[in-house]
Amino acid sequence: MKKIIIAIDGHSSCGKSTMAKDLAREVGYIYVDSGAMYRAVTLWALRQNYFNGNEINTEALEKDMPGISITFRLNDETRLPETYLNDENVEKEIRSLEVSSHVSPIATLPFVREALTRWQQQLGAEKGIVMDGRDIGTAVFPEAELKIFVTASAEVRAQRRYDELKAKGMEASYEDILQNVKERDYIDSHRAMNPLRQADDAIVLDNSELTIAEQKQWLLDKFHATIQHS
Ligand code: DC
Repeated sequence: MKKIIIAIDGHSSCGKSTMAKDLAREVGYIYVDSGAMYRAVTLWALRQNYFNGNEINTEALEKDMPGISITFRLNDETRLPETYLNDENVEKEIRSLEVSSHVSPIATLPFVREALTRWQQQLGAEKGIVMDGRDIGTAVFPEAELKIFVTASAEVRAQRRYDELKAKGMEASYEDILQNVKERDYIDSHRAMNPLRQADDAIVLDNSELTIAEQKQWLLDKFHATIQHS
């Protein structure tokens, strides 16, 4: 069967990763979480002390970029991909609130976006891939056969992230998370390079009121319709 590229973009914490992972498993495609790559670079910058208040030592980070390797490996037990930064499993650490609250400024840096976009395009060269992020349908794979733009209210998204962190036994405050969600929406949509925006040919999915099962069916229907017509 012909393989396609599925681009899933949208606001932070609206369940893009869960739905993208699920869809990839269901149809036997590779799943790539592009946000995890921006998070891994952010973790690197935090560890190197490149943040000083609102300032980032961009010169040092740009020098480091060629030596930063971000890969994904399947966890044998969960069968889910996990993020590796220079061969170290950082899957848990990149989801912390500290990384979440520093990632948006890192994602505005053109040299970071260029390097990660190139890497993402290589990962999708063979098609048969589901990639989620902010600019997948607009900048990484403008030719993707199926583009989904996901959204949900900020309050619903903050509650989901809060529940996710709690379930993992991590400390969290709903108010802090809501503020972080709103700040990231603003920065993601207003940055100069490849801001979050809906591609003209993307299908919108507002999942505020949908269950995971309903959403899954909706996606599968879109996938089969696209395969039939391509
Ligand atoms: O999807 P996420 O919340 O894990 O993404 C983390 C951050 O990375 C988010 O604030 C925006 C940025 N990002 C981006 O700019 N472009 C992408 N393709 C994916 C994520």
